[in-house]
Parts: sequence; structure tokens; C-alpha cells
Amino acid sequence: MATALIILAAGKGTRMQSDLPKVLHQIAGAPMLVHALKAGASLSPERTVVVAGHGADAVAKAAQDWDETIEIALQTEQNGTAHAVQQAQTALTDFDGDAIVIFGDTPFIRPETLEAMTAARKTHDIVVLGFEAADPGRYGRLVQNGDQLEKIVEFKDANDQERAITLCNSGVISANLPALFDLIDQVKNDNAAEEYYLTDIIGIARAQGLSATVVTCDEAETLGINSRAELSNAETLFQARARSEALENGVTLQAADTVYFAHDTVIGRDSFIEPNVVFGPGVTIESSATIRAFSHLEDCHVSRGASVGPYARLRPGTELAENTKVGNFVEIKNATVAEGAKVNHLTYIGDATIGEKANVGAGTVTCNYDGVFKHHTDIGANAFIGSGTMLVAPVRVGHDAMTGSGSVITEDVPDNALGLGRTRQVNKDGFAKKLFDMLKARKAKQQKGH
Ligand code: UD1
Ligand code: CA
Repeated sequence: MATALIILAAGKGTRMQSDLPKVLHQIAGAPMLVHALKAGASLSPERTVVVAGHGADAVAKAAQDWDETIEIALQTEQNGTAHAVQQAQTALTDFDGDAIVIFGDTPFIRPETLEAMTAARKTHDIVVLGFEAADPGRYGRLVQNGDQLEKIVEFKDANDQERAITLCNSGVISANLPALFDLIDQVKNDNAAEEYYLTDIIGIARAQGLSATVVTCDEAETLGINSRAELSNAETLFQARARSEALENGVTLQAADTVYFAHDTVIGRDSFIEPNVVFGPGVTIESSATIRAFSHLEDCHVSRGASVGPYARLRPGTELAENTKVGNFVEIKNATVAEGAKVNHLTYIGDATIGEKANVGAGTVTCNYDGVFKHHTDIGANAFIGSGTMLVAPVRVGHDAMTGSGSVITEDVPDNALGLGRTRQVNKDGFAKKLFDMLKARKAKQQKGH
């Protein structure tokens, strides 16, 4: 059965107290909207429509950065969730199949849960995802009769008896798409909020003799984010899930609670992660690598057997080949480090290629930026860069070449050559003693004067 995914993301999120549209607030380095889209993508939908309103341009950009085939429907006034789904109708006029509606502020639905909903659709016209809430708070309540769902009552409109129900609405609904639009057309806004509630379609459907049922899942999956406190809680939940997945996949986390993952972090088995490591988006670590304490990695690739840190920073475009070593206080950006190469101490490598088994000495800087343009540095295989070398790019140090410590290298160093770029040292005999004697005499004179 063909599926269309409709993601509601037009709300302002007043309780976030923010200029940013709610669904663009980040969890694990990605907007919550992207988490919701990822969840929905597990159903391989033929079509995906995001309903945007508040900050529509930014919301559309975030969605299409993730998947450019995503369509955007505009909801200029936020008149409720049913009204929001209705805005997707024009985009989907020719679509015949199932629809799944997901809220952009409910980012953690698991693929298995959506599959269970698809399975339940075989026997029911409408399937709603519900959960047993520890604290039902302001969630909509699911009113059941046997295995039939009779209606959903919003908290604001519920009586005491209904408020006592702990089975709550997650917001995820599945139904045949033309039937869904037909039901939505009948929704009225005669409720406490004067909004068109998507939840009202259940009562309408039941009155027409259609069947509706509830599939349940864990509360952690259906967590709705409406405030900064809930956002913070969502981040905590995400991190807990990511840590336990890494451990299950054979990664050692020495102090799991201090390691922070992004939504897309990939770590191979037998890798060893020391305490206080932060993974930004786009990181892949292959197997048997070591990431030592207090390192920060983002948008980079670390190959098998490599060692990074402690206190290393790998920025976007860093590619470390097998068995490379990047040590303390080293920053690398947009650079490839070939197999077995070492950059061990206090170094900046930007816009560079480092050859196999090259050794970059302490305090080396690739001077890659002239204030306007970025330039490339090329270091050949087996090259030895002396400590404190300034490599003024564009520049190339050949294979098996060497630079003298403290050199400022402004011209290419040929293969096998030694490049020296510093003034020659002069020693002045007896000068140090003379200078010391003079200074000590001055100090003695001053002290006598007091
Ligand atoms: C909604 C449900 C409630 C459920 C809860 C789960 C309704 C009427 N209520 O309540 O039963 O328990 O979610 O988290 O459906 N949106 C639009 N346009 C609108 C209104 C909302 O796009 O006009 C979007 C919001 O951006 C948000 C989602 O729909 O992503 C849910 O809206 P929200 O206002 O947060 O609904 P809740 O009050 O949380
Ligand atoms: Ca909500």
C-alpha cells in the first residue's frame, strides 16, 4: 500500500519562549523536525508533505536540506491540527493510498511502532497511536469501548471522568488518505480553543460506522515537546538511548554518561571512547579506534585503529586513515591524514593533505587563510615537519622531506630536501654574564635607596 507522510510543523510553540519555530529546536544536533522525518522515512513513503506556517521558509529549508523531494504545504493561520492536515490536500489530490500524520514536535517514534500501525490498518479504518502516560497532563485522552476507539477528548474539553483516563493520544494517526480528508471536512471548531481538532475525526468516523483502534507504544517514544524543559528532557532521553545502542553494538564507553552523541553518530565495534567526548553531527568512527578524553568531533571520518586526543578537535572534512595518531591540543579541519601519519601535539592543520607515515612536530601551523582566501598545504609521505613550523599556504613539502624547527616555510620543499626558513643563530661570548652582572648591580642599588 502506497503511503503519504504528512508532518505537522506550522505551530509557533509559544511555550518555547523563542524566536525560532518550535520544530527547528535541536536535539542531538538536528532539528526535532528532522528526527520526526527520519522516523516517518522508515515507512518508505511515496510522498512526504510538511505543513509549515510559523517560520515557514526556515522550516521548509530544514526539511529539504534533509530530503529535497519533500513537499511543503503552507498553513498561514494556525487554526488547529485538522486544519493543518487539510492544507496538504492540494499537494496530494491525485494520491490514492494510506496517510500517516505525525507531529513535528513528537520526534522519537520508532520504526517498529509505525509498522505496527500499518499492520493494524488491515483490520481498522483508522489507527491512532496511544500511550499509557505516567502523568497524562495536557495530552488528549483516548476513550475506548472494547477494542474500538470511540473518541479522543482534548484535555481542555474533557470532564473529570475523561481526565482520569491515562491512555493518551500521541498525535500519530493513520487512515486511507481520501477518507481522512473527507472526515476532516466535517470537523467543526466548537470547542474550548476554537480550533479544528484532528482528534475529532474519530468521533465522526465512529458515527458513520467506520472502525478505529489504538496501537500503543512506550511513553518515551511519544514524548511531545512544548517547552524548554521538555526539550531538555528529550535530549536526555535521546542520549540515554544512543549510549545504550553504542554499548550494545560493542563500543566501550568508559564513562557513558559523559559522552554526547549526535543523531547520526556511527561508531564501529571495539572502539574505545574515554570520558567527556562530544560527537557533533556527521561523525563516523570505524572499528577499533580510540577517542581519548575531552575530544570534540564533528563531520569527520576516523578509520580503523586511529587514536584521537586527549583534547583533540576534529572539524568538518577531517579524514583520518587507518592507524593515524592525533594527539593533545590538535585541531584539524578539511584535511586528509594518510595511513600511519602522526600529528601529536599543539598543532593546527587546515585545508591540507598529509602523506603516509608523515610526522608533524609540535606547534606546527598550516597558515591556510590570508584573510580572504583559503589555501592548501600538501605534506608528502614520510615527511618530517620540525616543531614550530609555519607552513604558509599554498605550499608543498615533498615526500621524505624535512623542515627545520621554527621555520616559516613560504616556498615548496622538494622531495628528500631539508627546508630551512629562519635566521641563523649567533652566540656572543660572555654576553650573558655581563648582562646579569649589570642587572644585579642595578637591583642592589635600588634596594639601598629604599
Ligand atoms: C496534540 C493533540 C493531543 C495530543 C498531543 C500529543 C490535537 C487537537 N491535540 O495536542 O491530543 O495528546 O498533541 O503531543 O491534535 N500544528 C500545526 N498547525 C496548527 C496546530 C498545530 O501545524 O494549526 C502542529 C504543531 O506545530 C505541532 C503539532 O501540530 O507540531 C501539534 O500541535 P500542538 O499545538 O503542539 O498540539 P497539542 O496541544 O500538543
Ligand atoms: Ca504538542
